[in-house]
Amino acid sequence: MTDTTNTRVAVLVGSLRADSLNRKIAEILRDEAPEGVEVDIIDGLDLLPFYNEDIDSGAVPAPATALRARVAAADRVLAVTPEYNGTMPAVLNNAIDWLSRPYGAGAIVGKPFGVVGATPTPYGGKWAHADTARSAGIAGAVVIEDVTVSQPAIEVDPTTDPEVRAKLLGALTTLVEYRPEASAA
Ligand SMILES: Cc1cc2nc3c(=O)[nH]c(=O)nc-3n(C[C@H](O)[C@H](O)[C@H](O)COP(=O)(O)O)c2cc1C
Repeated sequence: MTDTTNTRVAVLVGSLRADSLNRKIAEILRDEAPEGVEVDIIDGLDLLPFYNEDIDSGAVPAPATALRARVAAADRVLAVTPEYNGTMPAVLNNAIDWLSRPYGAGAIVGKPFGVVGATPTPYGGKWAHADTARSAGIAGAVVIEDVTVSQPAIEVDPTTDPEVRAKLLGALTTLVEYRPEASAA
């Protein structure tokens, strides 16, 4: 069994809604994470200004510096997000943009990355999740496709259904247990 102690996972929450289902999922993952895994939920992504190269030099806005520091300190990055109009919410896209720069040396570069989420449709947000994975990969993250869970929340409540909770926790476990050498074998 892979030793996952002292693994820190930065979680980017794609919803700003007070009663967000996806934030609740992030909180379940934090509260039930495997032993030794610390989940750092980064919500409030609306505090970030829209990415603009003009403000990404010199005195970089404090929320962007803080986001970069938290992700840089993490061993893994997980996005937990709904879908808006067939893609990821703008706040998540914007966060990935901030994490992608400086070019080639952004905080997300080289970080194993996964995405999960739920929406009240039969598709569970799968286009948002595919776009998030593609964007994070282009930004330099190491996307672990096996992590992806696009959970429909129409007939089940993902926060209480034992099978769904187990699936989401399994996704987190897959992300933290990922080892580059294992994938190369
Ligand atoms: C602007 C907007 C666009 C949406 N577009 C989609 C969509 O394309 N696909 C989908 O599955 N759900 C869509 N939804 C529904 C959201 O998935 C749903 O509101 C979800 O519960 C939001 O996640 P949250 O509970 O974490 O805030 C949309 C909701 C909003 C507000």
